[in-house]
Amino acid sequence: MKKTIIDFLNAKKQGNKLAVLTAYDYSSAVLIDQCNVDGILVGDSLGMVYLGYNDTLSVTMFDMLHHIKAVARGTKKALLIGDMPFMSYHTSDYDAVINAGRMVQEANANAVKIEGCHNVLPQIKAIINAQIPVMGHIGLTPQSINMFGNYNVRGKSEESAIQLIEQAKILEQAGVFSIVLECIPMELAQKITNSVSVPTIGIGAGVNCDGQVLVLNDLLGIYSDITPKFVKVYENIGLQIKNSINQYVKEVQNGEFPTTKHSFTMEKQ
Ligand code: KIV
Repeated sequence: MKKTIIDFLNAKKQGNKLAVLTAYDYSSAVLIDQCNVDGILVGDSLGMVYLGYNDTLSVTMFDMLHHIKAVARGTKKALLIGDMPFMSYHTSDYDAVINAGRMVQEANANAVKIEGCHNVLPQIKAIINAQIPVMGHIGLTPQSINMFGNYNVRGKSEESAIQLIEQAKILEQAGVFSIVLECIPMELAQKITNSVSVPTIGIGAGVNCDGQVLVLNDLLGIYSDITPKFVKVYENIGLQIKNSINQYVKEVQNGEFPTTKHSFTMEKQ
């Protein structure tokens, strides 16, 4: 059975934790979908971990649609969330609804994610009015890098913590079905989690959120340009990939590969 936003809301009511992971391609989506995750997020982090940009600002709607379509083909059970890229929702309610609609209609996403609160509240409401579920995202919002100038932990001071609690309540009232809390102190994440009825999904926000999200390439050790403190590398697949490729190169160079097992022969005359 395909998960829905109702499953997300019920998970919080029942005290069940939600596990969300990012994916950017078909093969990864198939593997993740077989592992009982609740949600797959095609994050704009794809700009950094998949396309090699320094930040997420260069990611376009074209990039997102291309990757969401691939992930959708491999996702049978998890809720599929498409990340709205920089400038796809900032310009007007109209643009926001059209672009969110493309994620659902063309790419088969079930919901979209939007960074920010006050600055994009009308857009969030307009998208929800168009019957497209929205996941909020507050705390560290990487698309605002040029306003903040750094990727530091947010909400450390009392004043900024109060602002984030307010933002979560405003997003809840606007009708989001969940809220990503990125890089905030764990005590604050707990307060926010206790203050709203929709599930909080933490990344660098401690264990007391209603769920967690991680970037797949971080968890597997295949992206090492940046290694945030909150990442747990479960298996160093990057090293395993390198070992396999080194072995392949060696076997090609010394003629060990391909063997007859990996070769074809002609019909006997
Ligand atoms: O782009 C992304 O992968 C995200 C998650 C880190 C929440 O926004």
